[in-house]
Amino acid sequence: MTISSGLCRLFAIVVLLHGQNHTSRWTRSMGVDQDVDAAVVAARAAFEGPWSRWTPYQRQCLLVKIRDLVEANFDELAIIETLDMGAPLTRTRNLKGAILQMIMYFSSQTMNVAGETSGNSLPGNITSMSIKAPVGVIGGIIPWNGPLISQWWVLGAALATGCTVVMKPAEDASLSVLRVVELLHEAGMPEGVVNVVTGYGAIAGEALSRHPGVDRIAFTGSTVTGRKIIEASATNMKKLQLELGGKSPDIVFADADLDKAVPGAAMAVFTNSGQVCYAGTRLFVQRTIQEEFTQRMAEFAKTLKVGDPLDSSVQLGPLISQKQLDKVLDYMHGAPKEGATLAGGGERLGGELASGYFVEPTIFANVTNSMRIAREEIFGPVISVIPFDTADEVLTLANDTEYGLGGAVWTRDMSTALKMVHGIHAGTVWVNCYGMVDPNVGFGGIKMSGYGVKGSRGHIDAYLYSKSVYINAG
Ligand code: NAI
Ligand code: MG
Repeated sequence: MTISSGLCRLFAIVVLLHGQNHTSRWTRSMGVDQDVDAAVVAARAAFEGPWSRWTPYQRQCLLVKIRDLVEANFDELAIIETLDMGAPLTRTRNLKGAILQMIMYFSSQTMNVAGETSGNSLPGNITSMSIKAPVGVIGGIIPWNGPLISQWWVLGAALATGCTVVMKPAEDASLSVLRVVELLHEAGMPEGVVNVVTGYGAIAGEALSRHPGVDRIAFTGSTVTGRKIIEASATNMKKLQLELGGKSPDIVFADADLDKAVPGAAMAVFTNSGQVCYAGTRLFVQRTIQEEFTQRMAEFAKTLKVGDPLDSSVQLGPLISQKQLDKVLDYMHGAPKEGATLAGGGERLGGELASGYFVEPTIFANVTNSMRIAREEIFGPVISVIPFDTADEVLTLANDTEYGLGGAVWTRDMSTALKMVHGIHAGTVWVNCYGMVDPNVGFGGIKMSGYGVKGSRGHIDAYLYSKSVYINAG
């Protein structure tokens, strides 16, 4: 599909999805309490109805069909995501492999759900066992920074385990979720299994997290909102998975392969214009190479093309919104006043890009761990270079944060690497790479970055509960 024919189709979709009264499924684009109610009722009916009789093998076949439909429609999905949230086509198109792999991972997990049986430790002819059952209706609340991929952590796990879903995508980027739910129905998923309520967090999101008919919330977003969801979930003791903010340490030792570490550490933050939960924004660089490293990184940053996300040579698009732009510029302009040295970027882009939310990839050197740019999640393309001398010192600095989502180390010395792997208090640590996610292993956070893993057995188990069964065969 060419971009222009894709665009025509997209405008049709935008009209269709945002249109009033187009179908009974989409009556309002700004969901309110009654919409959440209706969606939860539909999800509950599907959970207790025909969907509960689907075998794991049937759900596996459905997921395989979904994978094929997503592959066949991926160009369109990538364009929708790009137009909706501004990530360049070079990025959204590239997510295809990862998304298809995620769907296949969840399809494999349908056949992998198992409880336990014990020997006969009870008197009489009693068999005891535990079986796994789906928890019920899942509320999925996701952010705007990558719904094309992040929706699958919810959809995949729910379809694999036999749960049903009410999705509340971010108000700033809902379209890829709406198109995907069409594809799910096209693949043969029964009505009511996945429902979408678009709308604002404080209205639709709040209603969903408080709703007594929802058994579990899977949330990705800010720590502030995460805390509100914990409070709202108390109504009916919902299970929660929370992936919240981060301020991840990325540690470069002087013996690292700098040809890999410079672009690796730069893209650990600049990718998606810095709007990534586990971005390695606190870049600890060993003091002996700080100057060289910062200079090389600033040169690398200059080679990154920022601009029209539909241009297939562009690597970084705009930020999501005026609000996010204001927030990022506030950090960029405030850092020198706190004593940080601007080593590259630092401004909003002008000229042809002046009317968009474009900012330069930005690097600050000589940052200390107490500055605002080193403590708070910026969610923009801003790197804080913090010098260090020894491995013990850097571990203390790296862990001096309220967050614990990701972290990384660049070194040729395996014992240094392992010291960091064991010493960094975070849910995920990368060695000589950054940001890879394998659904078999997954990723997740600790401390104020939340709890509950995405990917791995732990993810599937969280959509299930254990039921203990005792059978007296007489
Ligand atoms: P947010 O956490 O408010 O939004 C994420 C999702 O939660 C959206 O779908 C939103 O509608 C929903 N939401 C908002 N308030 C809610 C409530 N009271 N109850 C239930 N759901 C609610 O994030 P926001 O305001 O879009 O961005 C603010 C900052 O949060 C960003 O600048 C960034 O620092 C951080 N953030 C972090 C993300 C991450 O992946 N770690 C993702 C998005 C934002
Ligand atoms: Mg918010």
